[in-house]
Amino acid sequence: MAAKKIAIVTGANRGIGREIARQLMQADVFVVLGSRDLGKGEEALAQIQGSRSNAAAYSLDVNDTRSVRRLVEKVEKAHGAPSILVNNAGVYPEATEAKVVDTSTAMWRETFETNLFGAVRMCREVVPLMQRRRDGRIVNISWTGQTSRGNWKRLALSCGHCRKMIGCISGRCDSPAKIVV
Ligand SMILES: NC(=O)c1ccc[n+]([C@@H]2O[C@H](COP(=O)([O-])OP(=O)(O)OC[C@H]3O[C@@H](n4cnc5c(N)ncnc54)[C@H](OP(=O)(O)O)[C@@H]3O)[C@@H](O)[C@H]2O)c1
Repeated sequence: MAAKKIAIVTGANRGIGREIARQLMQADVFVVLGSRDLGKGEEALAQIQGSRSNAAAYSLDVNDTRSVRRLVEKVEKAHGAPSILVNNAGVYPEATEAKVVDTSTAMWRETFETNLFGAVRMCREVVPLMQRRRDGRIVNISWTGQTSRGNWKRLALSCGHCRKMIGCISGRCDSPAKIVV
């Protein structure tokens, strides 16, 4: 029997990340739920896992390079190299509704630190493992309406491998995506 695919989902303790983790588990992928607060990650895992055992919660702060390294090392050692990475962790500040003139530099920095550089930190650790396996998919959850032309109801899932938009997921969206592995 082929080994299960392993996925890391960042910011998986709530919201869209938790739903992505749930759907990946249903698709029989082994899911690593990364959360800043491990207790919240474990709570989320308990909520979505039912009778399944193909998931584990780990502590992860994408703003902290050492935390990212530690997580990837632990995952590789305990479960094997990941072949799916979902860069979901993000701050979603009020700035999304605000005008440029109302948005502080500190808020821009915080947003880029997590939403952009957090994904960069994750890719830096995970991509070499994927390259070694010659197997990997990276899904970057977009923010600030990259593909939505200002319509916040739509949230794109874009594939880091082929760069195509692969779906749209949001509680408020008309056409919620189903994850296909
Ligand atoms: N919902 C929408 O309509 C919408 C629209 C556009 C874009 N997005 C994007 O979609 C993604 C998920 O959105 P959501 O609505 O599910 O957001 P959410 O409910 O606010 O959840 C965000 C998740 O990211 C985690 N997180 C934040 N900073 C982190 C860090 N430094 N390290 C690790 N985890 C971190 C949060 O952890 P804590 O619980 O510890 O805070 C939480 O688990 C975000 O990237 C957001 O920008 C959402």
